[in-house]
Amino acid sequence: MAFQVPFNRPFQSGNELEYISEAIGQGDLSGDGDFSHRCAELLKSRYGIHHVLLTPSCTAALELSFMLLDLSEGDEVIVPSFTFVTTASAVVRAGGKPVFVDIRPDTLNLDPELVEKAITSNTKAIVPVHYAGVGCEMSAFNSLAQKNGLRIIEDAAQGVHAYCDGNALGSMGDLGTYSFHQTKNFSCGEGGALCINDPFLVDRAEILREKGTNRRQFLSGQVDKYSWVDIGSSLLPSELTSAFLYAQLQAADEITAKRKEIFNRYLDGFQSLVEDNLIQLPVIPENCDSNYHLFHVLVRNSDTRDRVLENLQECGIHAVFHYVPLHLSKAGQKYQTAGNRLPVTEDVSGRLIRLPIYPDMTTDQQTLVVNEFTRLVTGD
Ligand SMILES: Cc1ncc(COP(=O)(O)O)c(C=O)c1O
Repeated sequence: MAFQVPFNRPFQSGNELEYISEAIGQGDLSGDGDFSHRCAELLKSRYGIHHVLLTPSCTAALELSFMLLDLSEGDEVIVPSFTFVTTASAVVRAGGKPVFVDIRPDTLNLDPELVEKAITSNTKAIVPVHYAGVGCEMSAFNSLAQKNGLRIIEDAAQGVHAYCDGNALGSMGDLGTYSFHQTKNFSCGEGGALCINDPFLVDRAEILREKGTNRRQFLSGQVDKYSWVDIGSSLLPSELTSAFLYAQLQAADEITAKRKEIFNRYLDGFQSLVEDNLIQLPVIPENCDSNYHLFHVLVRNSDTRDRVLENLQECGIHAVFHYVPLHLSKAGQKYQTAGNRLPVTEDVSGRLIRLPIYPDMTTDQQTLVVNEFTRLVTGD
């Protein structure tokens, strides 16, 4: 179905084709070529990350992260249930158990006080997910990690080009993961990156990403032939993908400014609904600089949510919801350590609507969304 207002439209900076053609001209399209290095260097220097490895997806970067932790049976990793599936499935694939913890009702990010209560002698890591590009309370998580000898993996799939206390999301944990999927602010269709902030993890991460071989050490002259040295997989994106991504990363300020404008117009447009207690709007704490990845609204109950989504669709507006809580899902129930109730997650996931937001959205399109949404929520 073609929507008058689609949910998302990938942005093009204008340089993508030129860079792809440059990559083709260079004659080497496999991974870790010139454009992969340019992307990694840009991410490292702009966001203050020690080392960056591009990956085919954020999921791949999460899987690489948990391989690096060497989890064994019984090891627990604390994750939100209000997140995308692979935050938790990557833990399971590496042999660990996800422990689902509830979120804060304002930012919808993992709640540090509840995380502290969930730590046991089996806990190995915490995964703060920066929902909607708004930073988690990283100082609280990092001090919990220090006190208890845990690793922090930031799931910053939605958090590229966003900051918390002046630090880039993805630069504060031992490891961080980025997504460049088509739905994200900066995209190459499918793509991701592993941000490595603990220098001791770099060498092994390079081996795991190169099929378990020491090929990188061979290429840099550290060993005279390369061979199989560890577990691993094939986790490099091609140069075609990286060339496209480089154009997007260069346009990050322009893309973010456009998204911010649309985000703020939604905030203004919905003030009267907030005053009438009909909806709740997203909260961005003062110490966070968002990248305006998504615009979500909480309506009063799940019946309203379902009715509004269905009617928006009839008006040609594509709005969606997420997440089906992981602790209630079939696989979540099978793999989690204990079946806790998570009241905030369960409440929010029944009432949340995501409205269209993309850089090229026109004022007319946005006015239509604001008017139709307002009409449906007030029941006029
Ligand atoms: C919080 C979170 N983690 C992980 C992912 C997985 O990203 P990818 O599609 O790049 O594998 C997503 C994607 O939407 C996400 O939102």
